[in-house]
Amino acid sequence: MVAPNELAPVDITREFDFTEADFRSLAQLAYEHTGITLADSKRNLVYSRVSRRLRTLGLTSFKQYRSYLARDDNSGEIENFINAISTNLTKFFRESHHFDHFRSHVAGSFAHSSRGSTGGRLRVWSAGCSTGEEPYTIAVVLRKEVPDILRHDARILATDIDTEVLAKASRGEYPLDSIDQIPKSYLPFFAETDGGGGARSVVVEREVRSLITFRRLNLLEAWPFNGLFDAIFCRNVMIYFDNPTKSNLVERFTQQIRPGGWLYIGHSESLTGTHPGLRLMGRTIYRREA
Ligand SMILES: C[S@@+](CC[C@H](N)C(=O)[O-])C[C@H]1O[C@@H](n2cnc3c(N)ncnc32)[C@H](O)[C@@H]1O
Repeated sequence: MVAPNELAPVDITREFDFTEADFRSLAQLAYEHTGITLADSKRNLVYSRVSRRLRTLGLTSFKQYRSYLARDDNSGEIENFINAISTNLTKFFRESHHFDHFRSHVAGSFAHSSRGSTGGRLRVWSAGCSTGEEPYTIAVVLRKEVPDILRHDARILATDIDTEVLAKASRGEYPLDSIDQIPKSYLPFFAETDGGGGARSVVVEREVRSLITFRRLNLLEAWPFNGLFDAIFCRNVMIYFDNPTKSNLVERFTQQIRPGGWLYIGHSESLTGTHPGLRLMGRTIYRREA
């Protein structure tokens, strides 16, 4: 039996006017600036995320917002727009098999060779680091596996296009339940603290934080690097890109990894096509050929 009000029209009244042209134009802007492809199924997502910007700016329609974005004196609204449309889901030890591999093949080999197989120098890049759980996971693995890591020339570069998540990442403070996925042996690197407002939180140990540099970097633009990386993590980022953007990025990552170094990608991002110079070595783990 159908309940009477199941047949009533669904109320899709929206707070702001949002036309097909608005969606297409914002999707195009997102693609041009970030490489993120917003499929038709993302209409509601775009509406709800960008609506927050309209409220903040006191605008009443998406058409007005598009005009505002096009103005020269819009105080860098494109940055807020990018922050609004990027998806930042992440967690500590996400896809933990990558960290098992990193521990044995990168951290372990660095620890066991007196100068490290990399000549006492270690460079890791977390590309698309979001709120920081990924680079902090890399850092605690290094800290535990290489007890004197702070005396080595070891650095983790953590970059993202979204300035809000980067600000959060640099604080290194997380809700208490975010450490649920962290294996017990790594918990000493996280200290419980009073996050204010009665909520308990955890902060990442200062020495662990000191291994990481957070920077804003758009993966589509030029990369300001001098040397090569021993490992690059770019996980659950390319999933939002179309195939040409993804292929181009993988090619650039390959050039940026030292021979014998590693590329870790997200679980649903297996590389299609040929990528000269990269060899599949495990589940979503690639090695730069010598
Ligand atoms: C889902 S998060 C992935 C976080 C982490 N790597 C993980 O796997 O848990 C995707 C991140 O990619 C970032 N991103 C998207 N497009 C980007 C671009 N063109 N350049 C740099 N970062 C980008 C987003 O801002 C977002 O924080």
